[in-house]
Amino acid sequence: MKVITLNDEVAIGQAIGDRFCTLVQENPAAVLGLATGASPLPTYCRMIARFHAGEVSFAKVHTFNLDEYCDLPATHPQSYRSFMQAQLFSQLNIDLQNTHFLDGNAADEVAECLRFDALIEQLGGVDLQLLGIGRNGHIGFNEPADAFTLGSFKVQLAPSTLEANSMYFVDERMPTHAMTMGVGAILRAKEIVLVATGAAKAEAVKAMIQGKITPQLPASALQNHPNVTVYLDPAAASLLQ
Ligand code: GLP
Repeated sequence: MKVITLNDEVAIGQAIGDRFCTLVQENPAAVLGLATGASPLPTYCRMIARFHAGEVSFAKVHTFNLDEYCDLPATHPQSYRSFMQAQLFSQLNIDLQNTHFLDGNAADEVAECLRFDALIEQLGGVDLQLLGIGRNGHIGFNEPADAFTLGSFKVQLAPSTLEANSMYFVDERMPTHAMTMGVGAILRAKEIVLVATGAAKAEAVKAMIQGKITPQLPASALQNHPNVTVYLDPAAASLLQ
């Protein structure tokens, strides 16, 4: 794992956004693995700025998002599809037909997960996967568990995740379940970049990089991947030895 500490989230967003843009310049039909939450936002800002500067076109890319809430209409402002539409897709020349999500409202969740995983393989796999990390070490919505997950699946959200994400659901109950790419599927990406900022992530970051590989800290599985770059700000890096 390569670990890079930069001054702040803007510098991190520039570095990761530039990596995405370089990839798309080299391979206009690249398959991008995208994430939600606060951590990816500076990266998306950089991609949007470079698109508006005429430096890169996203017309042919395909995107796969890591996860989506269950029992929340796709049109709900807090669905991850709505998030991506507002924060990225609406500001790029991306073809919405090429933006892929797990359907958290699918009647047959097993079939839906198989469909999603098969589509990733059909398009040649994810070229570059963007990740954040949960305070409990989750990636996507792979919560601490007794075994590493493989393909996509439906998950019950951990109490710490419910607490962390409840701020987005003012005056309404937040979903208790989600569908997520499994750890095995995430590790199949050819290249992975993970961003973590702020002191609240420092414990998880230390365990991910310097702890043992365990499904109790799902992000530790990234130690097994040959091409991972972790971008940290000084607060997130503060517990590393
Ligand atoms: C969310 C998402 C993750 C994300 C994480 C951290 O629940 N499912 O993909 O990486 O929590 O979010 P944030 O970047 O807002 O701290």
